[in-house]
Amino acid sequence: MAQALSLTSSSMASLGSSSRLLPSASTAKASSLLSPSSLSLSSLKCTRSSSLLPSLVLRQKLQRRSLVRRLNSGSTVMTPTCFASDPEQLKSAREDIKELLKNTFCHPILVRLGWHDSGTYDCNIEEWPQRGGANGSLRFEVELKHAANAGLVNALKLLQPIKDKYPSVTYADLFQLASAASVEEAGGPKIPMKYGRVDVSEPEQCPPEGKLPDAGPPSPAGHLRDVFYRMGLGDQEIVALSGAHTLGRSRPERSGWGKPVTKYTKDGPGAPGGHSWTVQWLKFDNSYFKDIKERRDEDLLVLPTDAVLFEDLSFKAYAERYAEDQEVFFKDYAEAHAKLSNLGAKFDPLEGFSLDDGSI
Ligand code: HEM
Repeated sequence: MAQALSLTSSSMASLGSSSRLLPSASTAKASSLLSPSSLSLSSLKCTRSSSLLPSLVLRQKLQRRSLVRRLNSGSTVMTPTCFASDPEQLKSAREDIKELLKNTFCHPILVRLGWHDSGTYDCNIEEWPQRGGANGSLRFEVELKHAANAGLVNALKLLQPIKDKYPSVTYADLFQLASAASVEEAGGPKIPMKYGRVDVSEPEQCPPEGKLPDAGPPSPAGHLRDVFYRMGLGDQEIVALSGAHTLGRSRPERSGWGKPVTKYTKDGPGAPGGHSWTVQWLKFDNSYFKDIKERRDEDLLVLPTDAVLFEDLSFKAYAERYAEDQEVFFKDYAEAHAKLSNLGAKFDPLEGFSLDDGSI
């Protein structure tokens, strides 16, 4: 046992360089039972760890997480247990997403994809994945077919080539990475994201239909509270997160809401058409709150659940503040978005990891 455990820090450091070549997280698991004699560095197929392992912190984590097991024969084996997603692949995927955004202007639909994966969370259910949330279940057809998700198959199609290129990134992480990068690239605040979300593995693990909010319920304020409180979020977060509608358009052929085309959407960019909430619907700022407050332009959309943000007294206090002060909106939005992105997620490592704090 001592033999298998005695990986030196230099051997651990080179462990990752072989990992870059390996195709998938599942391959890593399948190939993880290694006899001591086969325990060469190249055979440690820890695809979900960093390929360069630059920091001691990460090395120590990997060492801590290496499990020694005994085979029936009594020989010792080593199973490197790795993060749900490979940090280096996540970083590269982020660069590819930025390129995709430059070429296709798909920021809004990627934000919506991330939100619809995480927004099924029910804080009253403890078990994963029954509790819903950011677990990649939205990649399955059965969930994509939920009425609330109309059109999101297009977002999945855009991301699939990136998923194929970086197989050691989970869908759950990819969806949230794409959403946060889209907000940031559109000029919004930096989102304090963490990663390491585990994916559900089969369509039977998808949440039931009906967890996401309706845009035109009989009592919009009560409905928003029912839905967002179920996710463990509060009034401030409801208002801040609604501010994501500063991006994008509603399309009647998808959601049933909005005009087919307006003066702001007739020329795209991207596929023309739809009804935007703001004039510059690819720029993340606080104009959503200003425009709903003023309601001067028929070509700008106000859903019943948007209007109520200036009608309900508790919501209104936040909405007024965000209309006045973009900095306050950005700060609250960034925190609420990060919280939303973590809902229901099972993290591996448990505490998740950041791509930006220098530890990886
Ligand atoms: C408060 C309750 C919410 C309701 C009722 C709602 C409803 C809707 C509807 C009806 C659409 C139009 C979809 C289409 O026709 O393609 C839409 C689009 C969008 N939603 Fe929401 N939403 C809500 C909250 C959120 C949140 C919390 C976020 C993100 C944090 C978000 C982000 C977006 C984005 C970015 C779009 C534009 C998508 C595109 O242009 O393709 N929404 N939403």
